[in-house]
Amino acid sequence: MTVTIVGSQLGDEGKGGIVDVYGDAVDVVVRYQGGDNAGHTVVYEGDEYKLSLVPSGAVRGKIGVLGNGCVVNPNTLFEELDALGERGLSPDVRVAERAHAILPYHRVLDGIEEDVKSDDDLEAGTTGRGIGPTYEDKAGRRGIRIGDLLDSETLRSRLEYVVPRKRAIVEDVYDLDIGADVDSEAFDVDILFETYRDFGERLRREGMTVNCGAFLQDRLDAGDEIMFEGAQGTSIDIDHGIYPYVTSSNPTAGAAAVGTGVGPTVVGGGEVIGIVKAYLSRVGTGPLPTELGSVEGQTPEDGGRPEAEDLATTIRDEGGEYGTVTGRPRRVGWLDMPMLRHAARANGFTGLAINHIDVLAGLEEVRVGHAYTLDGEELLTMPPTTERWGECEADLRTFDGWDDADWAAVAEDGYDAIPENARTYLEYVGEELDTPIYAVGVGPGREETVVRVDPVSSR
Ligand code: GDP
Ligand code: IMO
Ligand code: MG
Repeated sequence: MTVTIVGSQLGDEGKGGIVDVYGDAVDVVVRYQGGDNAGHTVVYEGDEYKLSLVPSGAVRGKIGVLGNGCVVNPNTLFEELDALGERGLSPDVRVAERAHAILPYHRVLDGIEEDVKSDDDLEAGTTGRGIGPTYEDKAGRRGIRIGDLLDSETLRSRLEYVVPRKRAIVEDVYDLDIGADVDSEAFDVDILFETYRDFGERLRREGMTVNCGAFLQDRLDAGDEIMFEGAQGTSIDIDHGIYPYVTSSNPTAGAAAVGTGVGPTVVGGGEVIGIVKAYLSRVGTGPLPTELGSVEGQTPEDGGRPEAEDLATTIRDEGGEYGTVTGRPRRVGWLDMPMLRHAARANGFTGLAINHIDVLAGLEEVRVGHAYTLDGEELLTMPPTTERWGECEADLRTFDGWDDADWAAVAEDGYDAIPENARTYLEYVGEELDTPIYAVGVGPGREETVVRVDPVSSR
């Protein structure tokens, strides 16, 4: 059977941690979309692992697969594998031959386009990893796939077609000088060929490439349990999210089938667990109706709640909501129920894991955006355009806060040890989404999770 882990908000809900908690009972952990824009954290015995490409089951020694729906930067992958190796882990990671490779020019173009868009406030605040440009090339049938790296002739002919066109875009569309304004090596066929052929050789030498769907079907036939690890979150899904402030793939559960090569009945026959952060955090631009305070450069001019700046700072500090690389503050807000109702429908959640309730401890009151008001009407789910979403006013409901607790002890004692007011809050969420709560995160560590249902062992 399968378990699919999906972010139900804007990313960083604690997906990696839940993959780790439930990962003991599975054999293979598979990423089905995204690339090294992800940052998934596993904390075990005080050690923190930040994983971008290596599936989070690696910390438990599980086989990891990067499915055909992923975009893979081999450089990042090998760096991450080497760094984990130095920490005593030797992850067994396989990469789908149908997955697309991120090349240096994708990163350069990601940066250029964000820069240009920023003149009109249209930038998404991307991670700069070249994700969008790589998916563009995939859809434009000019991408280079992982399987191509193992075949020198194909690799060279693909590069010879695509690189001159990338050069033309930089020079003729953006009016930049390759060499002076941008790194010339990223646009040099010979250098790219040698570097990526070497990556291909290492992939082959280490037996890392697979025919993903067939590989997974064999494992299922042999009785293995498979976990699909979503990256990003439903509201930054390219179809179901707040376009254009989105990523370029589908984090929603349906993509677990398309992005790995198993049938939708396989994914749908298993569990689909929505990972929820007990408040909102956002890295990037665009509207956010429940936003508290504001963050320069990300919050739109008329957005946020300037009067709640102190509260925003408290939640941001308690939750460590600062960019892992840049240290930039992340935007924070109250839980947005219309966003979660939208996610529950789009993904068909069978269970929820609600994280970070410890972060809200100590607040006198905790609010949630229960519904929106739009044109004088109550709206229980998200409107389809982001412009209309920006016009929504959040109707807030207030819950009594809960005190800080010895969260490790709470996790050990179980659900009933969670402070009563926090349980009232959790149960409200579960009832509104008509979905049972499988787990509650009360801290970052593996042992700081209250597990009510283990979806794999309980089958
Ligand atoms: P992901 O991208 O969804 O895997 O989430 P990230 O790892 O980017 O961000 C979640 C952050 O919150 C990480 O630093 C986690 O260690 C941490 N975290 C996860 N669950 C909890 C929780 O229940 N409480 C607290 N305080 N931190 C948590
Ligand atoms: P995990 O898996 C939070 C956001 C970026 C930007 C938009 C597009 O750790 O939850 P991209 O580089 O993908 O083209 O950027 O999506 N974004 C994320 N935000 N968590 C993530 O991943 C994200 N991956 C991308 O900030 O707004
Ligand atoms: Mg993350």
